[in-house]
Amino acid sequence: METIRGKTSLDLDLNGFTTRLTNYNRVILDLGTGDGKFAFHYARAFPRHFVIGVDACRENLREHSRAKLPNALFIIASAQSLPNELNGLVSHITINFPWGSLLESLLTGEPMLMCRLESISSSFAQIDIRLNGGALAEQGWTLEAGAEQIYNNLVRASWRIKPPVMMNADVLRSFPSTWAKRLAFGRDPHAMQLSGYMACK
Ligand SMILES: C[S@@+](CC[C@H](N)C(=O)[O-])C[C@H]1O[C@@H](n2cnc3c(N)ncnc32)[C@H](O)[C@@H]1O
Repeated sequence: METIRGKTSLDLDLNGFTTRLTNYNRVILDLGTGDGKFAFHYARAFPRHFVIGVDACRENLREHSRAKLPNALFIIASAQSLPNELNGLVSHITINFPWGSLLESLLTGEPMLMCRLESISSSFAQIDIRLNGGALAEQGWTLEAGAEQIYNNLVRASWRIKPPVMMNADVLRSFPSTWAKRLAFGRDPHAMQLSGYMACK
C-alpha cells in the first residue's frame, strides 16, 4: 500500500505494516483525513494507540504526515478500495465531515465502501461519523435527512448505531480537525454525529 511522509511516498508491505503495529493495543483509522490534523492530534494524545489517516488526495497531507510520530501512518487510498493489509485490524473508524465520493457512498450505502468498512474492522469495532450540512446540501440532502439515510445504511450493513446527535458551535470549536474549525466559525455552525459499533463479525 502507498504511504506518505511529507512529499515522499513509500510502499509498505504487510510485513512492514505489522511490524509498525507491534505493541499497540488499538488501531484507529481516520477515513477522509484531509490534512491529517485529527489523526496527528489523536496520535499525540494517545501514544499507546496506532493511528492511520487515509485520504484519496495527497496534496493536503504534506504538513502533518511529516511529523515523526512512531504511532501514526498516512495512507493514500480511496475509501472504496482500502488496502487489504488493513483487514480485521481496525478497532475504531472515524469519518469526519466527508464530502465527494466518500459522502456519496455513505448516502447510497455503496457496497464497495460498506464491504471494506466491515472487512477492516475487528470485532466490536467502533465507528464515529460526523456530517456537515453544506456537504450534504451539495448532494441534495438536508443535514437531518442525510444523517438518517446514512444511519439506515449503516444499520443495514450490520453496524449498531445510536440515533444521530447534533454538534453545535461549541462542540465544533473544540473538535481537533480543520473542517470542524471551518464549520464552527462559518455561516451554519452545525453538524451531526453518528456513533456505534460493528455488531456481527
Ligand atoms: C471536508 S474534507 C474533511 C477532512 C478532515 N476529515 C477534517 O475534518 O478536516 C473531506 C475529505 O474527504 C476526502 N475524500 C473524499 N472522497 C474520498 C474517497 N472516496 N476516499 C478517500 N477520501 C475521500 C477528500 O479528499 C477530503 O480530504
